[in-house]
Amino acid sequence: MFNLSGQIALVTGGSQGIGRAIALTLAELGADVAVMARTLEKCETVAEEIRAKGRRAVAVRGDMGNAEDIKAAVAKVGEQLGPISILVNNAAITRDGLMLRMKQHDWDEVINTNLTGVFLMTQAVLPMMTKARKGRIINVTSVVAQMGNVGQVNYISAKSGLLGFTKAVAREYASRNITVNAVAPGFIETPMTDVLGEAARNAMLEQIPLKRPGTDLDVAYAVAFLASDEAGYVTGQVININGGMYM
Ligand SMILES: NC(=O)c1ccc[n+]([C@@H]2O[C@H](COP(=O)([O-])OP(=O)(O)OC[C@H]3O[C@@H](n4cnc5c(N)ncnc54)[C@H](OP(=O)(O)O)[C@@H]3O)[C@@H](O)[C@H]2O)c1
Repeated sequence: MFNLSGQIALVTGGSQGIGRAIALTLAELGADVAVMARTLEKCETVAEEIRAKGRRAVAVRGDMGNAEDIKAAVAKVGEQLGPISILVNNAAITRDGLMLRMKQHDWDEVINTNLTGVFLMTQAVLPMMTKARKGRIINVTSVVAQMGNVGQVNYISAKSGLLGFTKAVAREYASRNITVNAVAPGFIETPMTDVLGEAARNAMLEQIPLKRPGTDLDVAYAVAFLASDEAGYVTGQVININGGMYM
């Protein structure tokens, strides 16, 4: 597949689920990888898995809802691995609830982590990429940003925001050879979706033409493509990885 030797990647939320699969896949393709999340021990575990593949890795504790954490995380990765050339904005949370019952706190927390956090992280990493005149930014959004869903107005507002954010930054940084794209997973089996009950799971599966949930690797392979030299002419795009759930 693609060769990412010499690249330095930062994967937010890389300690489990889709982010972990992305971190391991980028490492398998030759990149050195930093894994960031709020729980340091889980990041350390993934960093160890990356080192076992012969790559350099760093585990970084940080909250995407906290501007100081984001700056400190980027500085630490820069010091320990070098300038970041691949940024995967993957970390996200859900605080689901019906529109009329949703507390402003749940709205604010999701927008702050899933959208403002991506803005701050991208802003912190762009100077490194601008200096190198090369970079790959991949934002993880969701099928529901395109379809809508009941009970997720906060999450969907943030994830649709990321679609616009992707195009805006793609246009602004194309002249510096930095590409900015998004992946939009559908129903992927991870700790985030493990909390769904049997009925919700079956209702999801009924909407999927390929008749199976996606895997974390289904998403990681698309991210690997977008991170590669081979994707150099792709920018401002969204790759849907959803088994046909939304076409
Ligand atoms: N699973 C799906 O079906 C699906 C579908 C569409 C889109 N997505 C998107 O795919 C991405 C990954 O989802 P997933 O299912 O793998 O989620 P997950 O299993 O819940 O993992 C989320 C990761 O993000 C980290 N994280 C959460 N809040 C954070 C914060 N404030 N600061 C830093 N790190 C934080 C978590 O670690 P800590 O808790 O230790 O911080 C964890 O590493 C998300 O953007 C999600 O919206 C998932």
